Amino acid sequence: MSDAKTLPAQWRHVLGLCKVRPGEKVVVLDSFAGSGRYKRFAVEAAEELGADVAYLQVGDPNHLPESAVPTLSKADMIIDLVFAHDTRIRAFGRDNGTRTLVVLEPPEILARMLPNEADKSRVQAAHRAIRAAGTMRVTAPTGTDFSVRLGEFGGNAQWGFTDEAGHWDQWPGAFITTYGNEGTAEGTIVVDAGDMVFPTKEYVRDPISLRIEGGYIRAIEGGADAKAMKALLDRYDDPEVFAVSHLGWGLSRNSRWDALSWYDKAAIEGQDGRGFYGNFLFSTGPNLSGGGTRRAPLHLDIPLRGCSVFLDNQAMVLDGAVIPADQRV
Ligand SMILES: [Fe+2]
Repeated sequence: MSDAKTLPAQWRHVLGLCKVRPGEKVVVLDSFAGSGRYKRFAVEAAEELGADVAYLQVGDPNHLPESAVPTLSKADMIIDLVFAHDTRIRAFGRDNGTRTLVVLEPPEILARMLPNEADKSRVQAAHRAIRAAGTMRVTAPTGTDFSVRLGEFGGNAQWGFTDEAGHWDQWPGAFITTYGNEGTAEGTIVVDAGDMVFPTKEYVRDPISLRIEGGYIRAIEGGADAKAMKALLDRYDDPEVFAVSHLGWGLSRNSRWDALSWYDKAAIEGQDGRGFYGNFLFSTGPNLSGGGTRRAPLHLDIPLRGCSVFLDNQAMVLDGAVIPADQRV
């Protein structure tokens, strides 16, 4: 366990976990609309580890300017302070082995959810389980009863730092996800009162029932929140926003379910909810980052509490408690 009490010490700890080495090319990516609050910590921590560091500020990180591409594509590591939604960031990882670490959350969340090596080994145990599985089933007393076949896509593991060539991660957050085989998701997901929806960053007030057939949400039933979700998805006039996207469970030992209620929406990203220990993380929309071809203009992350998650009938999570010894804290 790290005893890093200050923000600079926490940055040194995390970039140390990322194995930043002398002479490595590190690019700190920022935008003019970004808060800029971490740029100095990122640059100084990387320089202290001996890296060759550039700070790159762009206008729109979701459409990177061509002039920024040569610098980013040659980086050994990108520290992304704005969560650039430009598919080339992942491509740099696949093609050039660039490691990427996104850092967005407020300082007290970075500190509380400071990652360590044990987080990585727990998430990797979950990753092995998910890669070996042929089916996932999720149940809950709320009425959730959902199943999907696995194996077409590999799965994405996040453990809060990036220490392997090509690995994309975010500080903080430890969780495992994979994508169901195309067209195989079936059943009902009940988003219960108190569960969360991102990126709208809201707790649901009344249950939403999602009826899923053939890999797509076919009906959204419930009260005001169901109507709001349906209106949001309908707005895009694109059937792919109704597709089932990544599925997994949270393994962040220091996450808090109530974190969302303490912040203005703009001040928080929601890694507490996404990585919440023992959640089931349901989502909608694209499967590009799992290696699929489906694009969608909207992606919802929906962490559910108190579910049971089974891989090939073996419990990974039971009523919200992580079960396998090698994944438990
Ligand atoms: Fe997601």
